[in-house]
Amino acid sequence: PSPKITVVGSINMDLVFRTPRIPVTGETITGHQFVQIAGGKGANQAVAAARQGAKTTMIACVGDDAYGQQSLHGLQADQIKTDHISIIADCATGVAGIMVDDRAQNIIVIAPGANAKLSPQHIEQARSAITEADLLICQCETPLDTVEAAIHLAHAHGVKVVFNPAPVIELPVGLLGKIDYLVVNETEAGQLSQIPVTDLSSAQSASRQLLSQGVRCVLLTMGEHGVCATKATQPSEHFPALKVKAIDTTAAGDTFVGAFAHAIGQGLALHAAIEEAQYCAALTVTKLGAQSSIPNRTELEHFKAAQNNQSR
Ligand code: RIB
Ligand code: NA
Repeated sequence: PSPKITVVGSINMDLVFRTPRIPVTGETITGHQFVQIAGGKGANQAVAAARQGAKTTMIACVGDDAYGQQSLHGLQADQIKTDHISIIADCATGVAGIMVDDRAQNIIVIAPGANAKLSPQHIEQARSAITEADLLICQCETPLDTVEAAIHLAHAHGVKVVFNPAPVIELPVGLLGKIDYLVVNETEAGQLSQIPVTDLSSAQSASRQLLSQGVRCVLLTMGEHGVCATKATQPSEHFPALKVKAIDTTAAGDTFVGAFAHAIGQGLALHAAIEEAQYCAALTVTKLGAQSSIPNRTELEHFKAAQNNQSR
């Protein structure tokens, strides 16, 4: 059965420059190519879940401009329910300016636009989309009071919450106590736990600290160093990363989150859900852009089979 997943989050149009290297302050360089690709952490996570087969709904805001229309059509093409996406008058759709260099390094600047207008009232209007879901996914590219409202509502109705606090901000006391799965990278884990994450051992300490704030399970994603999963009363488990040729890591974390939520929603055990999410995220790294690089079920199956053949 397909799990029902609701995502409260951002929608951006990504304006991507491929460049030989990232320019320094005051410098002008000529890039290789410009592409416009649908992105935004919320939308990317929704697309990742939907492409794995989840019945996905998004609660979000776009502006009344061409990027907003293109974003909506893109989500609909991925079978994502867009009834709860509001079009805000006289407002621009969120935009991300991204540079990706030849070594797959990137820098990103976001102009939130309509994402900043997503309010607790929007959550109230879309109430049933959260209370009737199997899982709720949130990030921090939309206002914190909105994210809080969504998490409280989900938690009160026994809906599992997957939270990806990115970009990281200070969180109100008690919010982490409502999180079933916290997905953080090294920086986010370091800031939320006050324990800098530099290696596996500090990753475990930071994860334990986050558990003490009430999170039920911490998934600390460390790029090429894999994933560290920690639950109370159990030792941390380390999942090494898959080796792939990195072209653009944009949306790898988002793909991990969306694919993981789908797998958990399907009833997979924690370790199996993490492995599936790792395969999906690894595929995302091999292609340019956010939603242009997120795999579907068939691509995942082929990749898994190819990897398993290689390791034999
Ligand atoms: O996580 C990747 C996303 O972050 C990009 O798609 C960009 O829109 C920014 O929100
Ligand atoms: Na990518």
